[in-house]
Parts: sequence; C-alpha cells; structure tokens
Amino acid sequence: MAVERTLILIKPDAMRRALAGEILRRFEARGLELRAAKLVTVDADLAERHYAVHREKPFFRELVDFITSGATLALVLEGEGAIATCRKTIGATNPADADPGSIRGDLALSMPDNLVHGSDSPETAAEEVALWFGDELA
Ligand code: RTP
Ligand code: MG
Repeated sequence: MAVERTLILIKPDAMRRALAGEILRRFEARGLELRAAKLVTVDADLAERHYAVHREKPFFRELVDFITSGATLALVLEGEGAIATCRKTIGATNPADADPGSIRGDLALSMPDNLVHGSDSPETAAEEVALWFGDELA
C-alpha cells in the first residue's frame, strides 16, 4: 500500500475539552508519523474554503461557526494507507453511529461536536494539506 499524507484537524470542541494529547496519541499508537503541526485560529475565509464542498448544505453555516469558535490543532500525518486508516480511527461522522474503539465512538456524543476531521481521499488530502500548510511542509 502507498505511503500517504493526510490532514487531521483537532477541532475546537476537542481543544476545549483538552483532548488533543489523547487524540494524537491514538494516531501515533497506530504507527502514523507526525509531519507537521500548528495551532490555528481559523478565520471565516479558511473555514469556507476548507468546507467548500458543503457550501450548499443546510449545515454549512453551523460548520463554519463551529470551526471558527476556538483554536484548532492542524496536523499532517504520514504512513501506509494513512487516509483510510485515520478515517477508521476517527469513526463515523455522527458520534451516535461511531463504533466503540474509535475516537468519536469513545470520546464524543452528538453532532456537531465530533472532535476531529480527516481527509477523505488522496485528492482531498493533497488539496487540504496545501490549503492548511502551503509550502511550510518539506
Ligand atoms: P470530517 O470532514 O469532519 O472529517 O467529517 P466526515 O468526513 O466524517 O463528514 P463530512 O460529510 O465531510 O461532513 C463534514 C462535517 O459536517 C458536519 N455534518 N453535519 N448535520 C449533518 O447532517 C451533518 N453532516 C455532516 C459534521 O460536523 C462533519 O464532521
Ligand atoms: Mg469530510
């Protein structure tokens, strides 16, 4: 399987609950390597670009308000099959549907407070890493 990079966001609800270390530990424990990290206060422009695919959805404004409501810890993780493995480690979008053992299944209860974002395909991962880190990443 190919070595991939994926964008992970530890969202403001996780930061408010001091879960950043717990969440990063779960990814590191799977063998994923941390390639970049920064604490970001997301502005509306970055939020709207990150969630552009959801622009027409009824929950778009809620998404933007949520991700701009406090600090977000942005990470780039690397490893074999990193994109799908991170999505499995994160769990289903709605914490109510997430399996126990996943981040959302163990640590979250309901939408929109689902703690983490993970890129969903190689194309999205490349776009999101570029959007959040630009040429900061070696
Ligand atoms: P994420 O992008 O945060 O990793 O989550 P995801 O791929 O599992 O879910 P996605 O479909 O990309 O949705 C992005 C975020 O939008 C919110 N959402 N709300 N009310 C709803 O029906 C609904 N559906 C999605 C969630 O906060 C989700 O993380
Ligand atoms: Mg998504």
